[in-house]
Amino acid sequence: MRAILLGTAAGGGFPQWNCACALCARCLSGELPARTQESVAVSGNGRDWWLLNASPDIRTQLLAVPALAPGPGPRDTPVRGVLLTDAEVDHALGLTVLRGGADLTVYAAPPVRDALTTDLPLRGLLDRYAPWDWQDSTAPGGFALAGGLTVTTHRVSAKAPKYVSGPAPDAPWVSAYRIEDRATGGVLVYAPCLAAWPDGFDDLLASATCALLDGTFFSAGELGTAVRSKDAGQPLMGHLPVAGPGGSLAALARHRGLRRIYTHLNNTNPLLDPFSDACATVRKAGAEVLPDGHELIL
Ligand code: MLT
Ligand code: MN
Ligand code: ZN
Repeated sequence: MRAILLGTAAGGGFPQWNCACALCARCLSGELPARTQESVAVSGNGRDWWLLNASPDIRTQLLAVPALAPGPGPRDTPVRGVLLTDAEVDHALGLTVLRGGADLTVYAAPPVRDALTTDLPLRGLLDRYAPWDWQDSTAPGGFALAGGLTVTTHRVSAKAPKYVSGPAPDAPWVSAYRIEDRATGGVLVYAPCLAAWPDGFDDLLASATCALLDGTFFSAGELGTAVRSKDAGQPLMGHLPVAGPGGSLAALARHRGLRRIYTHLNNTNPLLDPFSDACATVRKAGAEVLPDGHELIL
């Protein structure tokens, strides 16, 4: 399986258009590498590609990767569809960029599909450009993707997007995907949005060779210290921090044989600076932070 990290930043990207924090300023000045909003492309055969989330940056991301270039026919594309982990704006809005793409399949959990039909009514809009196949990602038994990958969907949390009015409580708003290439034995667990360490997640990781996980915030106090505005002191908006006794890095210490990669980095996160103490801590623990465009072979 090939897995290309198309984008590795949280909503807003890095730098964020309206942020003058120290990290964004260092990125704007060219000192730190910019990152586009989080998305991944996976393929079992190098010809049929599936997007894991579709960020508003998807056009730039697709054009940057030769394997995703259109062809051989004038309107052909190797992109077969999109697997959504949630209905967040930074993960779903890229669907509008793909409008008109023929024969795409979108996999999403029922509350995500419903939110994209009502509160953020993209589904009807998109189907008027080209009818897409909208599939329930939570159907029992999982599903197979063209190109030789098999997928199962795992409930992560009931964290609904801010824009949804009266979200169904306890619904599977956020999922993780387990993507397996049976030909190579490679298994990717993709979970870019973790509000907490989910029940059963250790078993899921134990069955994987690589995990791509929520690295939005390095520490619990981060939003309050990095940004002086009204955001200061707010809770971490449903993302488990990397560091600290209850953080994801401590939990990942139970999975030393697993390749562990952080993605969805918020613009306040010191992991954006490869020379930071935070980066040294993550590396020492055996986990990784990789740049946009990095390709994994699993
Ligand atoms: C999140 O990851 O919590 C959301 O994408 C926040 C947002 O809407 O930007
Ligand atoms: Mn996000
Ligand atoms: Zn910033």
